[in-house]
Amino acid sequence: MTFSEPMRRRCLAVILAAGEGKRMRSRKPKVLHELAGRSMLAHVLASVATAGADRIAVVVGAGQEAVAAEAKRAAPSAEIFVQSAPLGTAHAVLAAKAAFAEGFDDLLIAFADTPLIRPATYSNLRGGLADGDAAVVVLGFAAKDPKGYGRLILEGDNLIAIREHKDLHESELGLDICNAGVMALAGQHALGLLESIGNTNAQAEYYLTDAVAMARTRKLGAAASRVAADEVLGINDRQQLAEAEAVLQSRYRADAMQAGVTFHDPGSVHLSFDTELAADVIIEPHVFFGPGVSVGAGSVIRAFSHLDGAKVGEDCIIGPFARLRPGAELSAGVHIGNFVEVKAARLGVGVKANHLAYIGDATIGARTNIGAGTITCNYDGFTKFKTEVGEGAFIGVNSALVAPVTIGAGAYVGTGSVITDDVEADALVLARARQIQKPGWAKAFRAKHKK
Ligand code: UD1
Ligand code: MG
Repeated sequence: MTFSEPMRRRCLAVILAAGEGKRMRSRKPKVLHELAGRSMLAHVLASVATAGADRIAVVVGAGQEAVAAEAKRAAPSAEIFVQSAPLGTAHAVLAAKAAFAEGFDDLLIAFADTPLIRPATYSNLRGGLADGDAAVVVLGFAAKDPKGYGRLILEGDNLIAIREHKDLHESELGLDICNAGVMALAGQHALGLLESIGNTNAQAEYYLTDAVAMARTRKLGAAASRVAADEVLGINDRQQLAEAEAVLQSRYRADAMQAGVTFHDPGSVHLSFDTELAADVIIEPHVFFGPGVSVGAGSVIRAFSHLDGAKVGEDCIIGPFARLRPGAELSAGVHIGNFVEVKAARLGVGVKANHLAYIGDATIGARTNIGAGTITCNYDGFTKFKTEVGEGAFIGVNSALVAPVTIGAGAYVGTGSVITDDVEADALVLARARQIQKPGWAKAFRAKHKK
């Protein structure tokens, strides 16, 4: 089998997301909880799409409009089906039966609460169908604690059945190869197999896992593909959510290091699913990357910086203690120092804002220097206004730039100015009270108060 082979087969993916997730103890449905900046459901949607799904059906529970909305947001072409009552995993797949009509080669069944499965693993399941005579390919793993999982009953390489934990015979309690839950069914047999599944079992549920035994009775093959246990971690509670986050974070960091990024203390850096770090980026300890961040080659992100929705060009120095918010776009060679916040602002090549400043809703020309304590006053409580600063300007410390306002290229703004009117290019502007001095005043004042 080649990796690309299953890609040529038409694939319908059905993602089961109808569970309630009570153990999360949350106001929101389980699969909407986030890992690395996006919902579990969106992770699974992205993975099955990468694994070549041509059509994606998401099965939600009755009243789970928020889950349906998230599916549509993350994958607009996904189709939503409602499972009327939680009668089991096979019943859930059949809720999407209308999507079967068109015909397909592979039916890939994924769980929205099992978000760490890699696209290549889904492709391998499909590959198992393309490969030989199996009509069902399941994913098995060696669990440290198999309790609660369905077990694979194997005879050599042949998969005979999957038995749910609650239905195990005494002699089978020692079986330790577990069922990850997700599986692939051959398109031509999928509907027949699913519809033949009954609910005579300990939980009176329609078990998807019974597809294996059904295939055997029809003389169809069943096979198991193996995967590492940390890939199939299912999320039921907040502790497992945190474990899954840790697995994802270490994967993302490993990928970044492979791509040439240096982390001084990898475990203290939080990445998002879409963080883009170019080669020779250096990340100091305790840095947070929210969604939508890219950092260009050679830039250094110093300790305790928080970046979210920001684009950082090449050879920039950010932090320590910098905050880049959505819409911050920094050109090459920008320096952003401690306690500087940038939001919805474009900074030209070589701009420096090294200490204690807020730059919001602004355009700052190349090589301009923003002094300590400079604030763009961009909001009057109702509307946001823009500040434009030309190239090569010098904004003295503790200046308030009251937007809307434009400062020309090369202008100097005197320290402590409150700028309410536009400033010409190359001018010096002072907008502060003149200093007055009263010689001896303090001494006389003290004398008056002395008893
Ligand atoms: C399932 C497998 C079990 C496997 C385990 C791995 C079955 C019968 N058992 O058990 O062999 O070891 O996963 O974690 O498939 N769902 C619905 N509607 C339903 C029932 C479930 O949408 O009526 C969804 C759930 O939201 C979840 C997934 O299907 O995403 C799996 O259901 P769950 O109840 O967690 O199955 P397990 O008992 O864990
Ligand atoms: Mg489960």
